[in-house]
Amino acid sequence: MPEGSPALRGAIPRVFTLGIAIESKDSNLCSVAPSRLKRERVISATESLDVTVSNFRIALLPGDGIGPEVTSAARELLDAITAIDPSLHFQTEAFSWDAEQYLATGSMMPSDGLATLAQFDAIFLGAIGDERVPDHISLRQIIFAIRQGFNQYINLRPVKLLGGVSTPLAGRGPDDLDMVIVRENSEGEYSGLGGTLFPDSDDEVALQTSVFSRRGVERVLRYAFELARSKGRPLSSVSKGNALNFTGVFWDEVFSEISAEYPDVPSNNLLVDAAALHLVQHPEKFGVIVASNLFGDILSDLGAALVGGLGFAASANLNPERTFPSMFEPVHGSAPDIAGKNVANPVASLWAVGMMLAHLGRVDWEDAIVAAIESVLVDGIVRTPDLGGTSTTSEMTTAIVNALKAPSA
Ligand code: NAI
Ligand code: MG
Repeated sequence: MPEGSPALRGAIPRVFTLGIAIESKDSNLCSVAPSRLKRERVISATESLDVTVSNFRIALLPGDGIGPEVTSAARELLDAITAIDPSLHFQTEAFSWDAEQYLATGSMMPSDGLATLAQFDAIFLGAIGDERVPDHISLRQIIFAIRQGFNQYINLRPVKLLGGVSTPLAGRGPDDLDMVIVRENSEGEYSGLGGTLFPDSDDEVALQTSVFSRRGVERVLRYAFELARSKGRPLSSVSKGNALNFTGVFWDEVFSEISAEYPDVPSNNLLVDAAALHLVQHPEKFGVIVASNLFGDILSDLGAALVGGLGFAASANLNPERTFPSMFEPVHGSAPDIAGKNVANPVASLWAVGMMLAHLGRVDWEDAIVAAIESVLVDGIVRTPDLGGTSTTSEMTTAIVNALKAPSA
């Protein structure tokens, strides 16, 4: 169907229900649960039989600071795709679970928040963080509550240098920087377990417990091996077994066991400090990186710095079994220094929407979104201030949306 043609054609004099078959490029990574992916829509009497429509409900959590600005960009993109692609329809609903809500009610999210979100096919989160609420409260009550509550144990973070963007690494270009970080997202150093003893005294003690379960480590390593295999890229496991004599050694042992199941995937094991060095000196050697929660978090900010900054770092919090909705977000925070000025770079958010579409079975649309982003960057005319330009968030979003081409076109 040509781009821009009416979504629905012909006239069928009865009510008909249609669904779609979902194809995933990485189909071995996710057992597709049709009940979550295949949301059917009743086609009205004036609609055509030759159109299949996937209707996805997306929960938007704009959050704080630049969160609402980049969430508007995400919504504009979803609306544009709905208009362009007759086979897709996105219905968005926004929830104001932010610092204002915390200050008014004492909690970031209502007590039935997870139950509400469970009704959606996917979640888009802008950013959380406001100086009036301690970060460990606001982030834990929303981001960590959703990641853990919905068993989103995979955090995918692409690190890819797009054309038209410069890297601080001299002599390097897009061919040298193209990798994905797979970060364990539900336990590890961010388990949230711990406590304090003798608070506010000279004997004060703080304990933060890292949790590395066999089940948790095996599943993230298997996911990373499958991803590396499907991409035909090498896998690097990052840990710190020489100092973390329990958790680090355990991670390395499980990695060695699982790697025996994937003799066709070239893999190596790096200490996290050495990994930071190699990422800067030899970025071309990395294809897929798998790391625990803390190490993956830190390395992905380093990765972002290598490919243009936080404005380019997108992320997917995945529940691969699809028992629960997955959540898509830019890696950056609420950026209070630029909030309310309409100058945030929307690329990370728009790319996160692309990752959402890939998860919903439309990897072709992820490719189309990244291509549209890249074409605007290569043109170099519309650029937000972090890229040395003077364009606004809205202008850059509109330029990218206007550059979108339907995958089949
Ligand atoms: P940040 O990511 O908000 O900002 C760091 C720097 O990058 C700032 O100079 C900011 O202006 C810039 N920046 C970030 N995103 C940008 C974008 N899209 N375009 C252009 N420039 C951008 O990190 P920061 O300042 O350490 O934290 C601010 C708040 O965000 C804190 O409350 C923190 O806890 C929270 N935070 C929340 C996250 C989330 O919601 N996932 C992640 C990281 C931090
Ligand atoms: Mg981070």
